[in-house]
Amino acid sequence: MTPTDPALSRATPVPLGPTLNFSEVNLTLGRTTILDNVTFTVRPGSVHALVGPNGGGKSSLIKTLLGQMPHQGRLTLQWPGEPGTIGYVPQALEFDRGLPMTVDDFMAAMCQRRPAFLGLSRHYAGAIGDALERVGMQDKRKRRMGALSGGERQRVLLAQGLIPAPQLLVLDEPMSALDEAGIQVFERLLGDWRAVGITVLWIEHDLEAVGRLADHVTGLSRRVLFDAPPQQALTPERLLTLFSTHPRSAAR
Ligand SMILES: Nc1ncnc2c1ncn2[C@@H]1O[C@H](COP(=O)(O)OP(=O)(O)O)[C@@H](O)[C@H]1O
Ligand SMILES: [Mg+2]
Repeated sequence: MTPTDPALSRATPVPLGPTLNFSEVNLTLGRTTILDNVTFTVRPGSVHALVGPNGGGKSSLIKTLLGQMPHQGRLTLQWPGEPGTIGYVPQALEFDRGLPMTVDDFMAAMCQRRPAFLGLSRHYAGAIGDALERVGMQDKRKRRMGALSGGERQRVLLAQGLIPAPQLLVLDEPMSALDEAGIQVFERLLGDWRAVGITVLWIEHDLEAVGRLADHVTGLSRRVLFDAPPQQALTPERLLTLFSTHPRSAAR
């Protein structure tokens, strides 16, 4: 295969997504060390899981990546070409259940905040429809957000992360409220992202799912405890260390 042959290069799974390098990243809030010398690499086009105990700093690390938290150290994204789009699916959605906001309203509001979508408003409806279809929510577009189940809201959160089409997806516990059908939807999406070479950084507490679906897994409890493919990382001893480590006491 030569890269000069356009037909072949189209068929080659060249990753669309960036490489992520966390190098000696430190985050201190007040007098608490949240992240301590965090160093690891996310390979382009990989599904990379981030696991660890509650309070271990996983959400903080990705907020740091997204520029929402101050930090020390180096954090770089190397894109294969022009800098691409980052999709983010937050851990939970804070909103007033009484708000008269439909699924469509919510999607439009989320998408309009994105510079890449400015001036493209007539394409909103189509893109929103496609994204909701991919998560199986197309027939609930007119429902009020407050009337959805937790799993349905989580599907909508996933859908908003797909617009505009991202090359890097950052997912903070995307499966936590999903039911069995929702989990199947998520697994199908993960397969699609892998097939097109999107880089996925995925915080997950379900280690069985990580073992089955991730290419690589980093254990984080204030510092990096391990960083390896799941079959090497998720050994019983490792898991015991990971979940018996209390981030606060580890600070001493
Ligand atoms: N904005 C904040 N201000 C102060 N402390 C915070 C803030 N956000 C998170 N923390 C603290 O940082 C630690 C890591 O939290 P978090 O990143 O949410 O962990 P995880 O996602 O792994 O459960 C916790 O001790 C939490 O209380
Ligand atoms: Mg979290």
